[in-house]
Amino acid sequence: MSNIKSLFMGQLLFLATACGASAAPPASADHASAALALSPALLDLFRAEMRELLVGTQAIASALPAGDWDGIVATSRQMKASYVLEKKLTPAQEKELAALPGRFKELDQGFHARAGRLADAAIKRDYEAVAFHYSRLLETCAACHASFAAARFPTFGTPPPADHHH
Ligand code: HEC
Repeated sequence: MSNIKSLFMGQLLFLATACGASAAPPASADHASAALALSPALLDLFRAEMRELLVGTQAIASALPAGDWDGIVATSRQMKASYVLEKKLTPAQEKELAALPGRFKELDQGFHARAGRLADAAIKRDYEAVAFHYSRLLETCAACHASFAAARFPTFGTPPPADHHH
């Protein structure tokens, strides 16, 4: 009982430490931007789209080892099409998006292109190409987050702690 309790307390302590760490401001200020400068409604829409992208990447991770080609084609096409930058927006919101940095738009285009190549590879049922484009797709997520989502994902660009040897 006391072992279980101390294990549990250890997890609580770990959680408290992890939360404390993620609440801290990003260590370096040389990121392109800590957060996107979008109005609240557009930012909500953007974040909802992001969560859909995450669901999509998780679905593909399950479909790939199962050889579910149709599932991969459908999901990657959906990811390509459902992105906020291609949605019907108000003219004011369109202006906001147009004002985003050029690098952000490049990363966005790279993401779209990769989702398209992933769909093509799944149509050909070429699992090696599917795995390749899937991993490159994840890279487009991380690349944009490292440059433009430092407030949300602060561990990009910070070195590992000195005692991380495992
Ligand atoms: C072109 C840039 C860009 C690309 C590409 C991109 N993201 Fe994001 N993502 C962002 C930004 C910026 C934020 C932070 C938004 C904010 O300020 O809260 C974000 C936030 C998120 C969030 C958190 C949403 C929330 O509710 O707080 C998730 C999850 C996410 N992205 C998943 C993904 C996945 C998965 C991919 C790739 C399949 C991806 N993103 C590709 C820019 C991008």
